[in-house]
Amino acid sequence: MDKYVINGGNKLYGNVKIQTAKNSVLPILAATVLTDSSVKILDIPQISDVKNMVRILSRLGCKTQYCDSHLIVDASNSNNYEIPSELAHELRSSVFLLGSVISRFHKAKIAYPGGCDIGLRPVDLHLSGLKRLGVTVTEENGYILCSCEKLTGNEIMLDCPSVGATENIMLAAVKAEGTTVIKNAAREPEIEDLQKFLNYIGAKVKGAGSGTIIVEGVKKLHGGEYLPITDRIEAGTFLIAAAMCGGEICAEGALAENISSLIHKLRENGCKIHIKNDKIILRRERRLTAVKSFETQPYPGFPTDLQAQMTALCCICQGQSIVTENLFETRYKYVPQLRKMGADITVIDRNAFVRGVEKFNGATVVAQDLRGGAALVLAALAAQGKSEVLDISHVDRGYGDFEYKLRNLGGDVIRKTV
Ligand code: UD1
Repeated sequence: MDKYVINGGNKLYGNVKIQTAKNSVLPILAATVLTDSSVKILDIPQISDVKNMVRILSRLGCKTQYCDSHLIVDASNSNNYEIPSELAHELRSSVFLLGSVISRFHKAKIAYPGGCDIGLRPVDLHLSGLKRLGVTVTEENGYILCSCEKLTGNEIMLDCPSVGATENIMLAAVKAEGTTVIKNAAREPEIEDLQKFLNYIGAKVKGAGSGTIIVEGVKKLHGGEYLPITDRIEAGTFLIAAAMCGGEICAEGALAENISSLIHKLRENGCKIHIKNDKIILRRERRLTAVKSFETQPYPGFPTDLQAQMTALCCICQGQSIVTENLFETRYKYVPQLRKMGADITVIDRNAFVRGVEKFNGATVVAQDLRGGAALVLAALAAQGKSEVLDISHVDRGYGDFEYKLRNLGGDVIRKTV
């Protein structure tokens, strides 16, 4: 397991190019199984979740080939409907493949998914949605087994707007017979991006971005080239880094409208933020004032994937903040680690009560999950003295070239292989 050694205290200055969105690229890669023509996804992010997804696609019999920073997937000879446990456990998004694999083979066998250990993360909504389209689902020895004669469109009402369930049902419905209507659908920008991609290769999907998505089944899809949207969580992480360390950075390619909840909070903190086309420029000159409270919500609310980073920022603001995590019950695992660095945080159920301290102190801390790990890296960058952040493979799941990008901005970060 690699670690980061970080000498904190440097201000951050300069430009950082934002990668394509992990949460767009993963379901788009799952969608490539739906077509027999080759698909080229442009500017693939260099993150381990994508590498694992590519390994799973290869296991399904798809031909995958990197070409510079692009990835070509050719599923024409895909011949396997089983995702074994050693791969599925690496990556929760393997569950998104259920929809496309069942569409292609009318059968699927997939080990219960892995991914970040941030709560129970059930898949009941995925499965009940697929059942509504005519799929029989059984569970056996840690595997989900699906089969159907054919997929038939239907109306599906989600109990909560799950991102993954919405995407999975979209993927299963694209080539189903008839029309599927998904109500109480998630409205995340990545779902709109998936719709855009699917329509680009010949699907008929509308409504993504609203609570109702309508999919009219088509017989065949074709191929093409596609550039996914940029990663609002990576952009948000860099903006929070500059807010914590001070300085001035420009997030290039960032889509401000997709993180307006964060921008609003950072302005409330006292950051100066300027938006110009696809650039977000953040300047922080003096110590920030705490936001009174923020809570995570489905989009367009404050993203749970930025909760840990924003809480780390609250720790060194003047004043007190209350954080409420509404989506995942165990998303405060990073808190004991931040306490080692001097943070004053008390967690009670879904709430974290944060009393601002002057500074973090350098310490050795252990990343427990992707976004919590990123929060520890930011805290170490802003801290006085030297820190080590262990187990950064968690961070590698979602941030490509993280240390290079941080170093380019002036952060003193090096990776060491333990
Ligand atoms: C996706 C994102 C993840 C983000 C999350 C919430 C990807 C690859 N991952 O994860 O980064 O943190 O959205 O924005 O896009 N739920 C159920 N039953 C289900 C499915 C979900 O109860 O079948 C619940 C979950 O426990 C959670 C809530 O719904 O409380 C939201 O989860 P969901 O939107 O499904 O998250 P993911 O798709 O796993």
